[in-house]
Amino acid sequence: MIKIAVIGYGVVGSGTVEVFYKNLDSIEKKIGDKIDIKYILDLRDFTGTPYDEKFIKTFDPIINDDEISIVAEVIGGIEPAYRYVKSLLEAGKSVVTSNKELVAEKGAELLRIARDKKVNFFFEASVGGGIPIIRPLHHCLSANEINEIAGILNGTTNFILTKMINEGMAFNDALALAQKLGYAERDPSADIEGYDACRKICILASLAFGKHIYPKDVHIEGISSITAEDVQYCDDFGGRIKLIGWASKRDDKAIVMVCPAFISDFSQLASVNDVFNAILVRGDATGDVMFYGKGAGKLPTASAVVADIIMAAKMSDSSKSLYWEDSEQAFVLDRKLLDSKFYLRLICKNKVEALKQAEELWGSLKLLHREGEADNEVAFVTESINEYKFEQDCALILKSAEIKGKIRVLDY
Ligand code: HSE
Repeated sequence: MIKIAVIGYGVVGSGTVEVFYKNLDSIEKKIGDKIDIKYILDLRDFTGTPYDEKFIKTFDPIINDDEISIVAEVIGGIEPAYRYVKSLLEAGKSVVTSNKELVAEKGAELLRIARDKKVNFFFEASVGGGIPIIRPLHHCLSANEINEIAGILNGTTNFILTKMINEGMAFNDALALAQKLGYAERDPSADIEGYDACRKICILASLAFGKHIYPKDVHIEGISSITAEDVQYCDDFGGRIKLIGWASKRDDKAIVMVCPAFISDFSQLASVNDVFNAILVRGDATGDVMFYGKGAGKLPTASAVVADIIMAAKMSDSSKSLYWEDSEQAFVLDRKLLDSKFYLRLICKNKVEALKQAEELWGSLKLLHREGEADNEVAFVTESINEYKFEQDCALILKSAEIKGKIRVLDY
């Protein structure tokens, strides 16, 4: 009999326990052994659940119980999760987690401890909720060199943008609905400012490129400044605005970024709506492979946690392929080295002058229009331009116009 513990009985934790007991018969067949949850750790009081006798309020029974071989950490955040997970791995217990913040910040260290102790540190649920992406990356695609990953990695922002685009909903109303449905993080700025997507692209890129990419080294732009006008202009462009997490390997370095982007309607990413996520992985043998599914929510995320429990129960040593080394800041290059196309919306002091200057700076412009555009308003997409130069140019254009919208145009 395998005995496990669950740390945290919030949305994901209660979902994990629910999925575990709902499918226990088939889970035991897949493991080839009996398995049960011995402890559920949560500081809050829960009564009237079928699991009342399993609840504990301190960590000590779990770390001190030799019967416990696998622990699911689903509390989120760095502390106390980091302290718990580190000591569990050091004590020779496998850990599975949905905690993307923990993996993005401490993944290299925790993977090394797991390898030293011949146990596992699994985190399928940390990226893409119920979408299988971590295991496919290091198992099914392991014959490939993966040089690029791009994805819609945050369900809340994709839900908000979809509501703004399809229903003309205001940003705040769409955010409130996402929170009500349980998609958003406790602090919604993690979603809307792009930090959550950043953690996820860091995890994917660390695994794909073999070196830890830290969130602090990633350029992040969120969606809180996206307006209804930008949405209208993107429609005229023939696309949709999406929050994209993006990582590209350049020789032995990486460029990693999270930003809203105009995505052409012809892109597969453009049709990814609501809380759905999609991840495009570019392998040198496979070409582009897309992973699609529900990226947030109780049961989809719990599905990935329980799958990791099953995998940990079946393994007698640590995974050799789920691993990356630590790295230094210099591994991530300055994103200003990139060339990108940009959408700009300007409110001009003199429209003719501003357009003339824009053409001098950025070459031939694709002009965009929207219903109800103001007389002194102009919007366009530039040719591809070096980002460092573009930032300098934007300072010049401020003499003749105010910049109201600035969004990258990406080719995926
Ligand atoms: N807040 C996250 C999202 C939850 O909206 O995608 C899943 O990580």
